[in-house]
Amino acid sequence: MSRIEARRDEDTAVTGTLVDRLLSGLPAETVLVDTDVTASYAHDMASFCPAGTPAVVVLPRTVEQVQHVMRVATELRVPVVPQGARTGLSGGANASDGCIVLSLTKMDRILEINPVDRIAVVEPGVVNATLSRAVNELGLYYPPDPSSWEMCTIGGNIGTASGGLCCVKYGVTAEYVLGLDVVLADGRLMSTGRRTAKGVAGYDLTRLFVGSEGSLGIVVRATLALKPQPPGQLVLAAEFASGAAACDAVCRIMEGGHVPSLLELMDRTTVRAVNDLAHMGLPESTEALLLAAFDTTDPAADLAALGALCEAAGATQVVPAEDFAESELLLQARRLSLTALEAVKGTTMIDDVCVPRSRLAEMLEGTERIAEKYRLTIGVVAHAGDGNTHPTVCFDAADADESRRARESFDEIMALGLELGGTITGEHGVGVLKKEWLAREIGPVGVEMQRAVKGVFDPLGILNPGKLF
Ligand code: LAC
Ligand code: ZN
Repeated sequence: MSRIEARRDEDTAVTGTLVDRLLSGLPAETVLVDTDVTASYAHDMASFCPAGTPAVVVLPRTVEQVQHVMRVATELRVPVVPQGARTGLSGGANASDGCIVLSLTKMDRILEINPVDRIAVVEPGVVNATLSRAVNELGLYYPPDPSSWEMCTIGGNIGTASGGLCCVKYGVTAEYVLGLDVVLADGRLMSTGRRTAKGVAGYDLTRLFVGSEGSLGIVVRATLALKPQPPGQLVLAAEFASGAAACDAVCRIMEGGHVPSLLELMDRTTVRAVNDLAHMGLPESTEALLLAAFDTTDPAADLAALGALCEAAGATQVVPAEDFAESELLLQARRLSLTALEAVKGTTMIDDVCVPRSRLAEMLEGTERIAEKYRLTIGVVAHAGDGNTHPTVCFDAADADESRRARESFDEIMALGLELGGTITGEHGVGVLKKEWLAREIGPVGVEMQRAVKGVFDPLGILNPGKLF
């Protein structure tokens, strides 16, 4: 028998033991071993991120089943990669070789919505839009709204601390997670946080788990804060002859004390890509399109004041939407941006650099320089009000030279973000894509302390290994 064959037999035996142990505490239908099926769980939506081959995919329905999986993983020292809908953009949900993929998508019950306490208690597999609609029916609002909200799960949102379009007014996921039930690496169940409006008992482990990318434990239940549902939002589109003028408008809006419910920027490349994909009729002559919205009681008046600031900053055209339906269309165009940019050359790498708003213009200018230097199309779509940019490198993955330039430009954009006092990731997380860059951002002492925290929760290093650092 050759060494390769012997190795393969050994792998099969290991997987056999693992599957037997899993099946000792799980219904057969929750354990997937067909390699065609398990391969489809190998990675999320990020390009250029290595992914291994899972040994098995488990789709638990209960907390006890998750505990069983973690006990088996600890006993056999098998890595576990937790997953939601795999809409992530940094490879944080990518499988490692021989791992258990722990997909939480079947734990998708909304357990409680309480209008007095203004909370919802949910399982991790609940889709963001499903929760949003359910709370809307009771006059409540769950703000965090990533572009993938129709698909992404609350568990994934917690894992990556995701943001969205409304964050400029309502903040990010972290601000809405009050408490968690977490299955630890060894199978114990821990509750963090609270369901009260306030609470300062001990270290804030809830916050620690938000954005931990499945590296500290498995979130099996979350208590989320809700807001009263605001009135519908009315959107305004402002066209600018340069990115710098649009950024100036953003600065004036923030400096003027305005609180828009959304303040997004699409550059010319993005506008054209969206038109090409969906024929949205966005103005193609513009260099930068700013979308602003208010969800106040008199949004038209608030938009008029904001429109005046855009004009003072040099807007060439300011067009308020006629009604909520037209507003929604503009937002749909914005949400399509990344898909549209992907259609430009077939593949994209999506940066997520967040800079202080006051440095936004420099970020845009610098990105343009990088695009020229590497002879690439880089479309920029940004949560401008947060300074959170998504410079999106468009390239043909079949072209080796272009792919190399894409990766280099992607890195240079992160370097620029750090230079401007920003962060390498505002909302997509580190995953495998930005591992070296996390170290650059937080420094060696920061990495050492983060590793130490990881060691407390996951002494065997079985939880989503190879991510973050
Ligand atoms: C967006 C995602 C990519 O803003 O974060 O559309
Ligand atoms: Zn975004």
